[in-house]
Amino acid sequence: MAETDKETREKVLVTSALPYANGPIHFGHIAGAYLGADIYVRFKKMCGADIIYMCGTDDHGVAITISAEAAGRSPEEHVSINHALIKSIFNKMNIDFTNFSQTSNPTNHSMSQHFFKRLVENGLIVQKETEQLYSRELDLFLADRYVEGTCPHCGYEKARGDECGSCGAWLDALELIDPKCKVNGEKPEVRKTKNWFLKLEDRAEWLEGWLNEMQGRAELPWKKLVVSEIQGYLKRGLESRAITRDLKWGVKLPQPYTEDGKVLYVWFDAPIGYISSTIEYFARKSEEDPGNYSPDMWKDYWQNPDCKLVHFIGKDNIPFHAMIFPIMLQGVDEGYILPDFIAGNAFLNLEGRQFSKSEGWYIEPLEFLEKYPTDSLRYYLCSDMPESTDSEFQWDRFQQAHNGELTNIYANLVNRTLKFISTKLDGKVPSYKRDWKEEQWVDNSIHNKIMTAPGAIGELYLNRFMFRRGLQEMMILAREGNQYFDSRAPWKALTEDRAECEHTIRTCLRLIKTMAVVSCPFIPETAQRVWAMLGLEGNVADCKWCEAAVDTFRDGARLPEPEPLFKKIDNKQIAREKKKLGGGAEQPKKKQKKQSSIPGIKKFVEFDDFAKVDLRAGRILEAENIEGSFKMLKLKVDIGLEQRQIIAGIAKQFKPEDLKGRTIIVVANLEPKKLMGLESQGMLLAAGGKKDLQLLTVTGDVAPGTRVS
Ligand code: MF3
Ligand code: ZN
Repeated sequence: MAETDKETREKVLVTSALPYANGPIHFGHIAGAYLGADIYVRFKKMCGADIIYMCGTDDHGVAITISAEAAGRSPEEHVSINHALIKSIFNKMNIDFTNFSQTSNPTNHSMSQHFFKRLVENGLIVQKETEQLYSRELDLFLADRYVEGTCPHCGYEKARGDECGSCGAWLDALELIDPKCKVNGEKPEVRKTKNWFLKLEDRAEWLEGWLNEMQGRAELPWKKLVVSEIQGYLKRGLESRAITRDLKWGVKLPQPYTEDGKVLYVWFDAPIGYISSTIEYFARKSEEDPGNYSPDMWKDYWQNPDCKLVHFIGKDNIPFHAMIFPIMLQGVDEGYILPDFIAGNAFLNLEGRQFSKSEGWYIEPLEFLEKYPTDSLRYYLCSDMPESTDSEFQWDRFQQAHNGELTNIYANLVNRTLKFISTKLDGKVPSYKRDWKEEQWVDNSIHNKIMTAPGAIGELYLNRFMFRRGLQEMMILAREGNQYFDSRAPWKALTEDRAECEHTIRTCLRLIKTMAVVSCPFIPETAQRVWAMLGLEGNVADCKWCEAAVDTFRDGARLPEPEPLFKKIDNKQIAREKKKLGGGAEQPKKKQKKQSSIPGIKKFVEFDDFAKVDLRAGRILEAENIEGSFKMLKLKVDIGLEQRQIIAGIAKQFKPEDLKGRTIIVVANLEPKKLMGLESQGMLLAAGGKKDLQLLTVTGDVAPGTRVS
């Protein structure tokens, strides 16, 4: 592409919500925030736009630390394992990001710190003292999700510190009646602490004006789903939001604000990840190809008023993308562009319920894609994309989409046309009738349809983020092709009027080529296979959208032998799949027992490091409860050379009197630590969870102090 061309090309920056790095993504995520974006980006590229598509994993936050803990991993290990897993699902789905980064990367740390500093300087972030629940035993201010108690609104006893699972009320942990720490059951105390707050209220007026403008513009008004939610916030009045948390995992506050050891709230650094992913991309490209790239090129997008920013997200992320992040972008005052459009989608459920991995109400994407073509899934998810209201994945509808639409209509047209050429026309591209002129195409009903289809699909629908309609129009073209084939009966004309027969088939070829091009954003692999079967060179994705309908065939050119595009999925197969849902349960509402999952293996340690741990057999001499703790016991343990006091979190599983005299395994050289105000001089080894915890003990006669190796 020539340099001048580059200047005039439409610039677009697309993002999809960063998935949390705490597990695999499911079809709901894909249909909500990724598939539409990928279709859009592929389409815009074919229109010649200079478009980049940024994403990555959302690595921080309490939810991640909790799930890492549960998996027996450090947060770093946990996010890197999940990052790789999520990436492999996107690869299989042909979701084609320009860059897929991670918010825990150094670039994002420094960018987020920069945003924080700028917003403090600009008076939009201030420090305030507030009260918060604090655990003495854990020596930690408790994040909302670590607290459970009775909901002040409905009386539900297991309401979470941020939200009541029963009545749905948004809660402040301080409102809970009888709060308890979820980690150890302790009753937390209220302590004062300082946090940093983003003053959303200072930008309320600005936000309202901007929103009205975006909603009111004629060419592309914003979705109701998005606008009405923010209007709701504005009506209730914007309030300052805490953007720091007491956690170890996350982006540390920058100098000179480091004193309390807090980290940024995950939702502060996550959207900045879009920017960091772009920076990272151009840094890498400029190393690989310094002639064409420079590290500063990210600014040509993020700080270029002629660039359009589009966010693809699920509806639960609307406040952050239509209110908080724009206020941050505007607030740093460094020329950042604001979203031109927010493609917020509703949710996709699974056969009437939300996807739930723990309840087995789930389809493993990678397993699914081993059995069924990626394009069948892309096609089906797009045809049921939750563009304005919730929709759902249904096995029957998936089967219908694959068999009844992709195979019977799209593939059928390709197959019958190419088969006809191969068996009846010597495998060569037939010609149009000799007296038939190009100028007449517009008057010719089928050619007229071929020529108008790309514009209709592109301009009317894909440019307006109406992917379902775009896909429908693509299929309408395929249907027209089949009807045309039927009505012209080329198998009859073959002997009666050869020229007429050839004309019909050549017209079908033109239609199929057009169909391959306009279906490329939706089903790229299939479109490419069709392209190759048409004997066309290179990639269908490189064909310009505006040239989709141009007949580029050469009379008499030889075509490759056609192959069927799809195999049908039979009823038995679908019946089996449905049965598997929820572990084969007849009653979908019934809760399945939570599967206990075996955590992943931690990283290798060098033998010398392992050998540093001094493990000894120890005999429990005394055991007693500790006042004020449900969880901890105080033990006196003989380890041969000396007696140790060990504070162990086993009170829920063991009575003190049952422990006396048992020989256990003790880590003898662990640095002493204060727990519940008492010094713990070592640690005992145990295996299992809350309910089935067992101590590692020695059977037979082993003297206290014996080394374990
Ligand atoms: N991880 C969030 C979620 O899954 C989305 C983050 S989007 C970003 O709900 F903008 F913050 F990156
Ligand atoms: Zn409630």
